[in-house]
Amino acid sequence: MRYDRYSKPFNFQRWIDEHAHLLKPPVGNQQVWQDADFIVTVVGGPNERTDFHDDPLEEFFWQFKGNAFLEIWDGGRFERVDLREGDIYLLPPHVRHSPQRPEAESRCLVIERQRPQGLVDGFEWYCARCGSLVHRIEVQLASIVDDLPKAYAQFYDQPDDARRCAGCGTVHPGRDAAAWHTMRNAQ
Ligand SMILES: [Fe+2]
Repeated sequence: MRYDRYSKPFNFQRWIDEHAHLLKPPVGNQQVWQDADFIVTVVGGPNERTDFHDDPLEEFFWQFKGNAFLEIWDGGRFERVDLREGDIYLLPPHVRHSPQRPEAESRCLVIERQRPQGLVDGFEWYCARCGSLVHRIEVQLASIVDDLPKAYAQFYDQPDDARRCAGCGTVHPGRDAAAWHTMRNAQ
């Protein structure tokens, strides 16, 4: 990143106010600086999802408005890590996580790092009923905004039968987060 006008301080709250229209569906997040080693984004709610992210590097969270939580998959078990308003959190590399932001107008600052060439991200989908891995894709992530929708479509656009869990036979509901969470909470 060069020293230019973008590297001068600016008021964070004003930036958020100016980008409020993007911090809600269907976009839901906005990157603060382009072409920097730190990928600094502000993520707004509501947003719920079914994919679990395997980030090869750490992720920092500051849940500065409203509440959210991370669904964590840890060796076959699901856990919930609450991000309550005011919380900060540092997620270690490779911990499978699925951020859930049920509250409209919630705001979280998320900091990731650019991935060096050869260091890939994984996106995984787990069976809500038995915890088995249903599908994994790996992506050399250049742009969080541009690369992810294409990667997700590989899983969501398949016929139902291709999303069937090899462990218990349950069909993964694809992008239907409400259906996935209902199944998960019934366990
Ligand atoms: Fe299963």
